[in-house]
Amino acid sequence: MTGASSGLGRASAVALAAEGANVVVAGLEPDGLEDTVELITRAGGRAIAVATDISDAAAVDAMAARAQHEYGGADVLVNNAAIYPYGPWHDFDEATWESVFNVNVKGYWLCSRSVYPQMIERGGGSIVSISSITFFMGNENLMPYVASKGAVVGFTRSLAREAGPKGIRVNAIAPGAFPTRAIAIHPDQQALHDDLMRDQSLKRRGVPEDIANAVVFFAGDRSSFVTGQTLLVDGGLYLH
Ligand SMILES: NC(=O)c1ccc[n+]([C@@H]2O[C@H](COP(=O)([O-])OP(=O)(O)OC[C@H]3O[C@@H](n4cnc5c(N)ncnc54)[C@H](O)[C@@H]3O)[C@@H](O)[C@H]2O)c1
Repeated sequence: MTGASSGLGRASAVALAAEGANVVVAGLEPDGLEDTVELITRAGGRAIAVATDISDAAAVDAMAARAQHEYGGADVLVNNAAIYPYGPWHDFDEATWESVFNVNVKGYWLCSRSVYPQMIERGGGSIVSISSITFFMGNENLMPYVASKGAVVGFTRSLAREAGPKGIRVNAIAPGAFPTRAIAIHPDQQALHDDLMRDQSLKRRGVPEDIANAVVFFAGDRSSFVTGQTLLVDGGLYLH
């Protein structure tokens, strides 16, 4: 589980552990990772924190090796970590573009590549990647991020074709708006709230557990005949 030191990643790690999964809590922020592990262990689950920059191939390989060593390999990978710089599209510099694609796209590929042999060895698995509603809506001031989240949909569809014959399912979740640091970048929270209450079909704000529920669904056998899909979990904000 990447990006599990905060937000939707933490909620999903906690939910997976509650279902009995042994969780590798991976990400950049050591304190947040330890807090997630503590939440899990206090509730009776099993988890370890592994500091990992998902854009660094050697670090990702080490994370996968740790999963193999501690738990005998991975059945599930949740690609969740992401960065989301905000601003007009023509103001982003090259370094920002590269960092967004290095984390939000290349990082998902590196993590998938590292655990793939373990899943094959274990007879199958499930890869769940977090995209974003912003890809479908085409939000402004988030261009590299929106483009990267579209890439996650393409990545998911292509990998589903290649991994399916090995018994590995590959799906994505596109969250709407959830109360984490990611949404805090929006400059006018009241306007955002009013827009959501007007445009969502369901007239309540999403909570991280809504995403965690979808992660648990894709991770487990209840979705055993589902692959290549992107599920929008957005209270009916975007209907397609
Ligand atoms: N909150 C929302 O409304 C919303 C909407 C759509 C999509 N999302 C997606 O949900 C996912 C989780 O975001 P969140 O809302 O919980 O925000 P968040 O900022 O709390 O979580 C992002 C996590 O990624 C980690 N991270 C960043 N770069 C990393 C790297 N190189 N290696 C490892 N970890 C790294 C961060 O430390 C953080 O824990 C992201 O993919 C985000 O794009 C969120």
